[in-house]
Amino acid sequence: MSKRIRKAVFPVAGLGTRFLPATKAVPKEMLTVVDRPVLQHVVDEAREAGIEHFIFVTGRNKAVIEDHFDISYELEDTLRRRGKTKELEALAADLPPAGATSFTRQQAPLGLGHAVWCARDIVGDEPFAVLLPDMVTLPNGAKKTRCLAQAVAAYQTHGGNIIAVEEVPPEETHQYGVVAVGKDYGDSFEIAGMVEKPPRGTAPSNLMISGRYILQPEIFSILEKGEKGAGGEIQLTDGMVALQAAQSFHGVRFDGRTYDTGSKLGFLAANIAFGLARPDIADGLRAELKKLL
Ligand code: UTP
Repeated sequence: MSKRIRKAVFPVAGLGTRFLPATKAVPKEMLTVVDRPVLQHVVDEAREAGIEHFIFVTGRNKAVIEDHFDISYELEDTLRRRGKTKELEALAADLPPAGATSFTRQQAPLGLGHAVWCARDIVGDEPFAVLLPDMVTLPNGAKKTRCLAQAVAAYQTHGGNIIAVEEVPPEETHQYGVVAVGKDYGDSFEIAGMVEKPPRGTAPSNLMISGRYILQPEIFSILEKGEKGAGGEIQLTDGMVALQAAQSFHGVRFDGRTYDTGSKLGFLAANIAFGLARPDIADGLRAELKKLL
């Protein structure tokens, strides 16, 4: 029987070069979608999926992330003295319990595969989730769960390794990791192959790897070899291709949409989509958009 997924890795050590100058001094994961940092949205998604331990792989200039997941004593004291109970409760609700976060450093940005490998000792010998912290997800329909919970449900059915995927226009597949579809169950399918950033016109499908994974710990001994792939980086996709020789991989078609907040357009689209999903501002935002368009 599959083990429960208790731990999640958030690789937050990238440089965010696509979003300069905003990311010169502020980590891209701390830019806001509506009124929450991008990373808080992703941690919310992990908590919804039952994650109990949050492992952040950070780098230089990312100390503010550690502060965000801690008590802010002066702020909370001031809120308390001013009787701002609602704000205090909201801050407390966002905070993972004491001891439920770990921080480790990726000393040089050698690639996503290397960042995940940096978490090996904290994860230990159990299956775990990986969430790309610049990708935020919104389900189709308010009652549906977000992407990681859908991946965990697929894991309960199939076990092994699970990768969330989403359709992209065929002319964009060269920018992403892409999967080949084997036996198809509808919402999920056997993954017949994977490739990172396939040259134009060679992708095996239009299903991109969208940034939510459930992986078995055997991935670490593969990533340890440090083999470089696309862009000269140690790619997680290449590690998964190697692991596929020994273990099963299933894809789950996320019933919703993923926004890449690491790109300018994705960031703006995420703010509009999340704003329209918020009852307190949706009407006002719609009116503003009408004026602009
Ligand atoms: P990206 O390639 O989207 O992030 O990696 P980046 O390198 O920060 O962005 P650009 O292209 O320069 O704008 C996907 C995720 O993997 C993390 C990033 O922080 C991001 O969340 N990552 C990537 C690492 O933690 N370490 C790395 O060496 C590379």
